Amino acid sequence: MTYISRTMEEKLISMIDKYQVIMITGPRQVGKSTLLNYISRTLDKKINKVTLDDLMLRNQAKNDPELFLRTHETPLIIDEFQYAPELLSYIKMITKKLYLVKKSKLKLYIF
Ligand SMILES: Nc1ncnc2c1ncn2[C@@H]1O[C@H](COP(=O)(O)OP(=O)(O)O)[C@@H](O)[C@H]1O
Ligand SMILES: [Mg+2]
Repeated sequence: MTYISRTMEEKLISMIDKYQVIMITGPRQVGKSTLLNYISRTLDKKINKVTLDDLMLRNQAKNDPELFLRTHETPLIIDEFQYAPELLSYIKMITKKLYLVKKSKLKLYIF
């Protein structure tokens, strides 16, 4: 595949420094995964990636969201996160806690 540059690239890169969590939503096949994969390759830091298409990971995320988020080190991309909406309230709690202690370690990119 020849990668075609997207206008969202620049915006997304600027958001990465500003926000702890970024959610990308949109219809299927519009290029969400491709965009995130491209950007994670161009940044010079290690970014972990999981996809909840994986049934084992999906069950882990649904059954024990707290453990799931502790197990997978950030910066983390969670693809197909809609399969485990249970993650969202835990992401909110972690983000709030980090904000309160003025730490900015969490980096999650979910889509
Ligand atoms: N920037 C791009 N340049 C070229 N092909 C792309 C680009 N973005 C997506 N595609 C192609 O479009 C298809 C759908 O992209 P994908 O990232 O899987 O969409 P989504 O994750 O939104 O469902 C894939 O076959 C992919 O190769
Ligand atoms: Mg996708």
